[in-house]
Amino acid sequence: MPETVLVTGGAGFIGSHTCAELLAHGYEVVVVDNHVNSSPLVLDRIAKTAGRPLAGAYRADVRDRRALTEVFAAHRVDAVIHFAAHKAVGESVARPVEYYDTNVGGTCTLLSVMRDHRVDRLVFSSSCSVHGDARTVPLTEHSPVAPTNPYAHTKLTCERILEDVCAHLAQMRVLALRYFNPVGAHPSGLLGEDPRGVPGNLMPYVAQVAVGRRERLSVFGDDYPTPDGTGVRDYVHVMDVAEGHRVAVEHLDDRTGMRVFNLGTGTGTSVLDLVAAFAEASGRPIPHQVVDRRPGDVAALVADASAVAAAWGWTTTRDLAAMCRDAWRFQQLHPDGYTR
Ligand code: NAD
Ligand code: WQD
Repeated sequence: MPETVLVTGGAGFIGSHTCAELLAHGYEVVVVDNHVNSSPLVLDRIAKTAGRPLAGAYRADVRDRRALTEVFAAHRVDAVIHFAAHKAVGESVARPVEYYDTNVGGTCTLLSVMRDHRVDRLVFSSSCSVHGDARTVPLTEHSPVAPTNPYAHTKLTCERILEDVCAHLAQMRVLALRYFNPVGAHPSGLLGEDPRGVPGNLMPYVAQVAVGRRERLSVFGDDYPTPDGTGVRDYVHVMDVAEGHRVAVEHLDDRTGMRVFNLGTGTGTSVLDLVAAFAEASGRPIPHQVVDRRPGDVAALVADASAVAAAWGWTTTRDLAAMCRDAWRFQQLHPDGYTR
């Protein structure tokens, strides 16, 4: 019998690519998503990438215990991947209660329904943002945590809750994956990142400049203590992130309890490096101008990705050129996002 994985937030950016990866590897996949930040059109596209249907797709809120209970009653769930959350740092400062309610409250409701149905295998979406303003990079899983905004606090709070639950329930197996900066798109061009409104993140903004939807990129500061003065990040291809989740599901049974792993490449890329790589991949110029630093930004965030490699013998394989090439393909095919 193939394993059934319930994916919350499965229509979102990382969730949709992970569902495609799971389907391609023979898993049965059930999606729960309230589509607050995703299009239901994505669900058919996930199936198309793999040539196989989803086992189920439910428009439901992870805070809705009754709805979740119905989903768990309808499927024999073997493992859960929990992506569903709000993720915009700036918005979290303006709407902290909503962020705690969905991100922390939703996780608690999910855990409680999992317990009712004796499901004890979970992969949780965490974030490098739990480290806040990192003093030294690369960051290991043991580097100090010091969230600087409500969003990052919700992720760290969920990690703490999961630790406590694992300490209490001996059979629980939880993997929290701290992603660095996921970018790129499915190589088919069917799935990608489709932010609402003006993109807050670098890669989708650059892609929209390349396609002519935005005039120019604002580079937020060139006076950081980095080689070219612009911010350095660890961009990781979303297909590597998706693969990392599939491999994580395979390793849930290695041991009980809670484990935390970084999901990054270990390579730092500056804003100007990324702009140059995208110009090369797209064959288009990326007009840009340096403006003031963005409040709250840090100079550099790069993963030490060695722990996951040592534990699972798995590493990311896709480079910056592939990230740009795939993001560009999706952008060209969907100049206005999933609506076309
Ligand atoms: P996304 O917004 O594209 O996907 C999240 C999905 O969850 C969306 O489809 C949304 O509709 C759904 N959702 C939100 N609230 C829900 C609710 N209450 N009930 C049901 N569904 C709900 O975001 P993403 O980039 O795919 O991120 C996925 C996860 O990864 C999030 O937990 C995020 O915090 C985490 N993460 C993302 C990044 C990043 O840079 N993208 C980095 C680190 C961690
Ligand atoms: C990258 C670099 C900017 C936009 C965010 C979240 C973090 C995590 C990953 C969820 C920085 C610069 C950006 C622009 C620019 N998400 N930039 N012009 O801030 O590293 O991380 O996504 O967990 O929590 O905060 O990503 O893509 O916004 O910025 O110059 O228009 O690009 O200053 O150096 P960030 P980002």
